[in-house]
Amino acid sequence: MNQNCCCGGKCVDERLEKVKKVIEEYKTVKGGLIPVLHKIQDIYGYLPEDVLKVVSQELNIPMAEIFGVASFYSYFSFEPKGKYIIRVCLGTACYVKGAQGLIDRLCKELNVEVGKTTADGKFTLEATRCLGACGLAPVMVIGEKVYGRITPDDIPNILKEYE
Ligand code: FES
Repeated sequence: MNQNCCCGGKCVDERLEKVKKVIEEYKTVKGGLIPVLHKIQDIYGYLPEDVLKVVSQELNIPMAEIFGVASFYSYFSFEPKGKYIIRVCLGTACYVKGAQGLIDRLCKELNVEVGKTTADGKFTLEATRCLGACGLAPVMVIGEKVYGRITPDDIPNILKEYE
């Protein structure tokens, strides 16, 4: 149950209903697990264990197998993500131009590790492969906004935009 829910839990049920419909749709489809997981990720923003248990029962697939499949794809997450996703490119061009310094500063400023979400649920910090904007290296993206040619000292001011 989502404790931060603003609707008394109604949306939680609605989301589960949507998931059940998708499960029904893919129940007899070979390889139907992946599209079901995709839908859950889209609906919840991550893969809640309770919902995976429903998938396990309905599709008759052991939980261990579901975890194994989901862990293979970086798209899937087992934890809720923050309101804003910060992605720092660690592709070659960005790495050479100091992307690791950006990550180190973000970890310090936000008190969070790469791949984790801040305690207030505001930011999730991720390291990614080339974002296709190497001319702007080092590149960081927050939500949809791209920040290029930045230094670690730019980080505090950028984060202020999200206060
Ligand atoms: S290496 Fe970072 S955008 Fe290409």
